[in-house]
Amino acid sequence: MISSAPSKVILFGEHAVVYGEPAIAVALNLRTTVMVERASDYSVNGYPLNDRYHRYIKNAITLLWDGDPLKITTASAVPSASGMGSSASITVATVAALLGLKGEAYEKNVALNSFEVEYFTQGSGSPIDTSTVTHGKGILVSNRMMDNFLWSVEKNKTRWYIHHLEVPPLKLVVGFSGVKGHTPEMVRKVRRFYEWSTFARDIIKEIGKITMMAIEPLENEDYVRIGELMDRNNRLLTILGVSHPLLKKMIEAARKHSYGAKITGAGGGGCMIALTDEQDEVARAIEEVGGKAYKVKISQKGYEIQS
Ligand code: MEV
Repeated sequence: MISSAPSKVILFGEHAVVYGEPAIAVALNLRTTVMVERASDYSVNGYPLNDRYHRYIKNAITLLWDGDPLKITTASAVPSASGMGSSASITVATVAALLGLKGEAYEKNVALNSFEVEYFTQGSGSPIDTSTVTHGKGILVSNRMMDNFLWSVEKNKTRWYIHHLEVPPLKLVVGFSGVKGHTPEMVRKVRRFYEWSTFARDIIKEIGKITMMAIEPLENEDYVRIGELMDRNNRLLTILGVSHPLLKKMIEAARKHSYGAKITGAGGGGCMIALTDEQDEVARAIEEVGGKAYKVKISQKGYEIQS
């Protein structure tokens, strides 16, 4: 059984989505492929299955598989701990393959089980990454049911409603700082701020409002407005304390040729994104200040079972 899944970037609403605020993400054309075959022992890429190095795969097996041992082979174009959803990508591809072996790899089942695996592994978070990587295209997560509803997810009294979102063919450049961001740590850091400060809670609500404001310009391909909202979202993320000196430099460098630029994902390292008509110039500007640039395209395909 071979399956694959795209990566993702969050356009609006990271961190706020953990508290049930709206967020928007798109799938990217960098993919992870997983092949599973029945075998006499569990292995991943020739090594014995290991709690530390193969946490997502191990937990997917624990939660979803009670058949014969499996030989698992993975290949990924997604840089790890980058904010591009490498963990969601490997999780969804693995879950799709395991459910595929059982004949149960339909979209909602893949999405809900992938969220369970990611949450079990990280101990926190929202379903935005796993939903986007499962569905492909654009995703709107909100706190109520709207048009193009796909499925809903509940955890610890927070309910997220997942929707398909039509997005134009955005030209994005992702800049990777090379500093690995640790998502659960950043989510815990923001939670501490959120719990003791009304100011932090107001920022989280404001990020949710910015996300909702972005829906119409996305539908109308109003790149100038989308860019402005990205910049505003970035200022609020910076106040939440999830930026990093190199992210700031890359964002500044990218802005000269962009509609807008912001941190994407958990931050604290990881990645930024820029919306632009000049992908080459932005990529060059990011690399000049020490980042690694990826000119990415939105993936219309979510997870896929190849055999
Ligand atoms: C990570 O890609 C996005 C966060 O909002 C965490 C989450 O929603 O699971 C930081």
